[in-house]
This record gives sequence, C-alpha cells and structure tokens, in this order.
Amino acid sequence: MRTCYNCPLSEIKGPGASSLIHSVTAPRNESEPVAKSSQPCKPGLSAVIAGTGFDVPTRVMTNAELEKLVNTSDQWIVERTGMKERRIVADGQNASDLALAAAQRAMDEAKTNPEEIDLIIVGTVTGDMLFPSTACVLQHKLGATNAAAMDVSAGCTGFIYALDTARQFIATGTYRTILVVGVEVLSRITDWTDRGTCVLLGDGAGAAIVKATAENGRGIIAGLLGADGSRGPDLYQPAGGTQIPATIESVKQRLHYLRMNGNAIFKVAVRSMARTVKRLIDAARITADDVKLIIPHQANLRIIEAMAKLIRFPMERVFVNIQKYANTSSATTIIALDEARKTGRIVAGDFVILVAFGAGLTWGGVVIRW
Ligand code: UT7
Repeated sequence: MRTCYNCPLSEIKGPGASSLIHSVTAPRNESEPVAKSSQPCKPGLSAVIAGTGFDVPTRVMTNAELEKLVNTSDQWIVERTGMKERRIVADGQNASDLALAAAQRAMDEAKTNPEEIDLIIVGTVTGDMLFPSTACVLQHKLGATNAAAMDVSAGCTGFIYALDTARQFIATGTYRTILVVGVEVLSRITDWTDRGTCVLLGDGAGAAIVKATAENGRGIIAGLLGADGSRGPDLYQPAGGTQIPATIESVKQRLHYLRMNGNAIFKVAVRSMARTVKRLIDAARITADDVKLIIPHQANLRIIEAMAKLIRFPMERVFVNIQKYANTSSATTIIALDEARKTGRIVAGDFVILVAFGAGLTWGGVVIRW
C-alpha cells in the first residue's frame, strides 16, 4: 500500500497502485477557485503525446462577410478580439468528420493503427448528436473496434479535461494507447443575428495520440482541473436538453443558440488561466523561465495578453493563432499545439503549458515535457 499526503486514492492496493496520482487540493474562497493539481506520486507509467493533428473546414469566413450579417466592422473585431477569419463547416459536414480527419493525422504521426486504440475521449459541446457520443461515432468511422469511447463536456476546456482524463487511465496502467480529440461545430449553434457572439466563433478539430511510457520525466507531468457551476448562466445553450426540449416555441425564441455574458467571462478567464498556469508551474516543480511556450485557449487576444501580463510572462513565448481560426472552443488548444509543434516552436525537452477556461464554468491546464 502507498500513502500520499492529502491523497484521496491513498488506500488503494493491487494492480495499478504503482502509478497512483498525488492530488493536492487548493484552498477554496472567492479569489481562489477550488482545483486539484496532480502529478505522479512515484515514477511509474507516464503519458506521452506520440502524435498530433488537426482539421478545419476549407470554407473561410472573413470579418468582411460578418459586416454584411450584423452591425460590426473588421476594425472592431480585430481590435477587440484579434480575430480576422474563422472556418465554417459545409452542409453535411459534422463534428465526427472533422474529428476523423484530425485523428487520422495524429495516428499517422504516432504510427498507430485503429485496433491499437484502447480508449477514445472526445471533448465537445457540439457533437453530432446528444447521444450516442461523438466518440462512439468516431470509433465506428475509424474502425477502432477495441476502443471504449466517451465524450467529455467541459466547454472550451474540453480537450484539456479529456487529456488529463487520458493521463489518469495511463498512470493507473489501465490503458496504453488513447485517442484524445477536441472538436466543435459552433457555427450550428451560433445566432448569426447576435453580433456579441457570432463574430467570435469557428469550427475545427484537433487530436492527440497519448501513449504509455516507462521513461520518466517526459510527457504530461502535471495537470489541474477546476469548475464553478454557479457561473453556468454566463455561457450556455438554453434549449435542446431535457429542461427545455425542442418545440416550435423554443425555436422561435432562439433558445437553441449559444448565449454568453462576454464581459463577465472575460474577467474570470484572465484570472482563472493566470492562476492555473502559476499552480501548474508549482506542481511541476519548475519555474516560469523553464516554460518554453504557453498555449492558451484562443477566445480573445486581449484575454491572452492580460493573462500573460498578470503572470509577467513574455508574449513572445505565448502561442497565438486566433487570427486564423477564431474561437473553436474545445479544439483551440490542440489545434494550436499541433501548429506550434509543426512550425518548430516546440522541440524535444521543452516544457509546454496548455491552459483553458470555458462553459461550466470550467478551467484547467497541463504541463507537458516534450
Ligand atoms: O471561449 C470562452 C467563452 N468566451 C469568451 O471568452 C469571450 C470573453 N469575452 C470577450 O471576449 C469580450 O467580452 C467580447 C469580445 C465578447 C466583447 O468585447 P468587449 O470589449 O468586452 O465589448 P463590450 O461587450 O464591453 O461592448 C463594447 C461595445 C458595446 O457597445 P456600446 O454599448 O459601448 O455602445 C457593444 O454593443 O461594443 C459593442 N459590440 C460590438 N460592436 C461591433 C459588441 N459586439 C460588437 C461587435 N461589433 N461584434
């Protein structure tokens, strides 16, 4: 038996106990949201990212096009958000299609066959259907017949929730190969008459193959997830669930579209991402100088800059691609990670932090030693 200070898993015995996760509970008060950071208790199986890939629709929607839909301007959008264009799915193109293309790219890089995948986790709030899960749809499309499959709903933090969940299954020795996806088709829940939201959103998918390795000190070395359900009404889709099922009335009232209190979210976003980064750095027992690149959720360039300022981290080491894809929710951090890797911003040995916040409200991050 292994015992960790403050560790809820400390009494577990038997297979998998050699890679228990040590969780540290953060204090809870107004300015200090509750969250748990975790890192391996003892050297055991680590979760490494063996391949990444992304896919976005070919259709580009520019700010100029949005000027024709709502009372906005390219200047306002660029100055207030940093966004210049976003991608929009074609008719008949669904979340599972984008996820499939992204997954195949990640699997190619990781030289992984569909049969090798033990688990598929898809972070999304705009899956093909409410059920079955988009992970199950993807499992079938891939022919990943040996994989269990599930979706994770954590708003824009979806990919990070999914990735940290994958890490736990690897650390416990349950699975060896996990496909983690972040995918959204936000254009289908966007109110194209609401200038407060429609200029911000885009469609896309990213995927990572996560594998077990006995090599210590590499891979996802720390993770932190948090949530504050009292802030749910700041960003939500009112209808379509069982509380307000689809009716002619719900459609007339435009209740199936995403609604957001942008100003309220802005402040929480900056604070929660800044705190998450600081805690992750502590949990990984590194310093900010050791961090080669922070890859934050791409919701607003001003949020990213404010976060960097709050933690005194240079923007040169913060990855931004918001100008090309806008906010693709669950997909932003994994699309950005793939782009960062494939443009040479990350090399072996680098410490990289992914951090996000989103509907729920949720927040979370991981430290990866590349
Ligand atoms: O992925 C996670 C979820 N989402 C977010 O993280 C979004 C967080 N919030 C934000 O990014 C920003 O709050 C927004 C981009 C949504 C809004 O920017 P803002 O600087 O906070 O603008 P505001 O809401 O304070 O509005 C300022 C003005 C208002 O006009 P008045 O009242 O000053 O006359 C708005 O009506 O800008 C107006 N406005 C626009 N004007 C042109 C709002 N949206 C637009 C628009 N084009 N698209």
